[in-house]
Amino acid sequence: MATNTDDLVGINEVALMAGVSKQAVANWRVRVSDFPLPVTELASGPIFRRSQIRSWLLRNKRKGKPMTHVFSTINLKGGVAKTTTTVALAETFSANMRKRVLVIDLDPQTNATLMLIGEDKWFELNGKERTLARLFKDAMDPDNRKFDLDKTLQKSVSDVGAAKTVDLLPSSLDLIDVQDKLASAPVGKFYAANPIELLWRAVKTSIDDYDIVMVDCPPNLGIITLNGLRISDGYIIPTIPDHLSTYGIPQIVTRIKDFSEAISETIEPFGIVATKYQANSTVHNNVLKQLRDDEKIPVVMDTIIRQANQVAAAAEFQTYPRTLKQKYGSELATQYDELAHEIWDQLEGGL
Ligand SMILES: Nc1ncnc2c1ncn2[C@@H]1O[C@H](COP(=O)(O)OP(=O)(O)OP(=O)(O)O)[C@@H](O)[C@H]1O
Ligand SMILES: [Mg+2]
Repeated sequence: MATNTDDLVGINEVALMAGVSKQAVANWRVRVSDFPLPVTELASGPIFRRSQIRSWLLRNKRKGKPMTHVFSTINLKGGVAKTTTTVALAETFSANMRKRVLVIDLDPQTNATLMLIGEDKWFELNGKERTLARLFKDAMDPDNRKFDLDKTLQKSVSDVGAAKTVDLLPSSLDLIDVQDKLASAPVGKFYAANPIELLWRAVKTSIDDYDIVMVDCPPNLGIITLNGLRISDGYIIPTIPDHLSTYGIPQIVTRIKDFSEAISETIEPFGIVATKYQANSTVHNNVLKQLRDDEKIPVVMDTIIRQANQVAAAAEFQTYPRTLKQKYGSELATQYDELAHEIWDQLEGGL
């Protein structure tokens, strides 16, 4: 059947039809598994059938199926509440906002994993190699592939009773070894795939099952972290508002910008989240003001997470269900709720 050229559209027209940026369309192509395939690729870019694009757009709108938002939690400084913020937000998105959330734990310290499933379950999974370490090991040992996404994905993991829709891809201490080996392996020798795309290849079709995917990154920008950034639309930077914790922020932003340009993907800095804030600290108040006044770094989110002693106890997984208020205390539960809404508004507004 002959095709009328009026029926063919490029990326520009797709963006116009959808009322989004060209970059958003480029992201859909990469991240949404049922996005129509192009009928051909010209030097100027891919060409799609208009009818397929239109029905895809309608289908997605009719189903009310919004895009999955994927973001990383990152700071090169350790101990600034990256993991606590990730887990608390995941639970809040689920319990208070009915979002389906996936937490991807990329940190070999396995803190998010331990917070969400506890030590016993982690030990069992680690013994069966049902952690993300296996995914990366497979890349270096392609004849002995064992990573099984279905078995590795842990469903409904949180000990917050109302947070039923939090799933987890668990981490392992073995990621330390894996990271070193990936870094020293000559590209092309051990893996058919680009080493920064291993996570993306494994999860790209499953990501559509979620409203939000959050990646808890270790405090470095090694290959494993880059795998997390590769699938992310953006990132948040939790920081204690003191000099040492905020010192590396410009460097993170620059390096992630360079990385995103190198892979031709948008990875937006969504904002800085001030954590462990002590209202009576002159340093905290001064640094917070400096961060807010600094136009060269991402905006500071309005919601500030205070220092609260109860949080240490929250990190311990419980076998009985509890509420967000019981887990984090009433003040912090409210702050996480405000932060979750602030981030959600930004995610939805940004698309
Ligand atoms: N709002 C808070 N008030 C008090 N303590 C907190 C708060 N948030 C986190 N903590 C505590 O601070 C410590 C570090 O938090 P967390 O593990 O989340 O940081 P991190 O940035 O992920 O660290 P790492 O770099 O090791 O991954 C933990 O003991 C945690 O319980
Ligand atoms: Mg952490």
